[in-house]
Amino acid sequence: GGRRAGKRSVNGPVLVGHRGAGGTAPENTVAAFIEGRLSGADFIEVDVQLSADGVPFLFHDDTPARTTDVENIFPGRASDPITTFTWAELQQLDAGSSFDERFKGERIPHLDDAVDAEAGGAGVYIEIKTPRNSPGIEQLVADRLLNHPAWRALVTAGKVQVIGFDAASNRAFSALAPEVPLQQLIGAVPSAGVLAALATYAHSIGTNYRRLTARDVARVHRAGLAVSVYTVNSAEDVQAVVDLGVDAVTTDFPVQNRRYLGRP
Ligand code: G3P
Ligand code: CA
Repeated sequence: GGRRAGKRSVNGPVLVGHRGAGGTAPENTVAAFIEGRLSGADFIEVDVQLSADGVPFLFHDDTPARTTDVENIFPGRASDPITTFTWAELQQLDAGSSFDERFKGERIPHLDDAVDAEAGGAGVYIEIKTPRNSPGIEQLVADRLLNHPAWRALVTAGKVQVIGFDAASNRAFSALAPEVPLQQLIGAVPSAGVLAALATYAHSIGTNYRRLTARDVARVHRAGLAVSVYTVNSAEDVQAVVDLGVDAVTTDFPVQNRRYLGRP
């Protein structure tokens, strides 16, 4: 078969830069997306949420406390849900210096910054993060992917997957945009019956690599689903999941791990 997004390929699994390249640049920032692309990742992974005024932005956590300078800019709001901030407020936060002072001035990106940073380069895994905090996000992301020219081109090239843990949100998204491959994130490989149910709307599962066995991988493949694993960082662990026959490997360190996938 061809080299479809997340599917098995003769070149081994595809390499996915987690939060861009979260091990070597501030997660979910343009700096990390460029780092992921330059490091040879086939895809970058980003987390999308909706601001209080409905703008899709890229951010992992439920609150700004860990990765931004929120206490300096909005004292007392560090524990507020990140989705209670407006887009204009989010733009005032520094998302780089908590990782390293070298990255001071990195902003929280817009969803479209992921496609702009990837022009001509890697594809994008878009995780719909904590959708209960971002009502309407499935419709908004579907509209964006199908109508924005750069996203549309990436979708047509087979280089976009939408991923998420929330099965109801995933089903809603796949009904809105059936042409975009959907990955069900799930902590461990479920029974054959559950896999068959997932296969009605999902193209792949994304699961934790710890305790994953070759039999699990075979079971998922028999259900017609590809297998992606997160978040695999050490050389030993990357080699182990390659040997299990997974289709995609998400890592914080794409630059260190590309050689396990037969890349120069
Ligand atoms: O690739 C899936 C992985 O990103 C899910 O975990 O917490 O890093 O979003 P998390
Ligand atoms: Ca994620």
